[in-house]
Amino acid sequence: MSTDAIVLLKNDHKAIRRAFRDFQKAGDEAHATKGKLVDKMIELLTVHTYVENEVMYPRVRELLPELEDDVLESYEEHHVADVLIMELSVMKPDDERFTAKTTVLIENVDHHIDEEEQEWFPKVREGLGRKTLQDLGAAMIEAKKTAPTRPSQPSALKKTIDAVVS
Ligand SMILES: [Fe+2]
Ligand SMILES: [Fe+2]
Repeated sequence: MSTDAIVLLKNDHKAIRRAFRDFQKAGDEAHATKGKLVDKMIELLTVHTYVENEVMYPRVRELLPELEDDVLESYEEHHVADVLIMELSVMKPDDERFTAKTTVLIENVDHHIDEEEQEWFPKVREGLGRKTLQDLGAAMIEAKKTAPTRPSQPSALKKTIDAVVS
């Protein structure tokens, strides 16, 4: 089985986007369905962000310093998503701002995924090469085993607080 880091991240993106599209297709009054889909998004995005923030971004930053600006922009985009996710995680699906907040999350993350897949991944693939991407992917699979799945878990929460207060 390939452990290519970019292949693994694209698989995550696909699952995240599936939950986004299902949410957009759900009717206005489909509170239970939309609540479940947002729970799913929260879990997928919390794990994905952890793996990118802890493994992918630091390693790329170290090995390809010319991509530093892209990495810093990605941290900020993840941070915006983290804030929305934290707020959504304590909201009820019939709250009047629930759908609006989810829509803003979807727009932000769709944009971020487009940038990663269309601009950033090609540069990373060229810069790192096959072997390094496989090692990176193996490290990501390891990290996933202990990744938080909800923003209320300390490691995810701490990152957000650190980003806000420091
Ligand atoms: Fe990302
Ligand atoms: Fe990503």
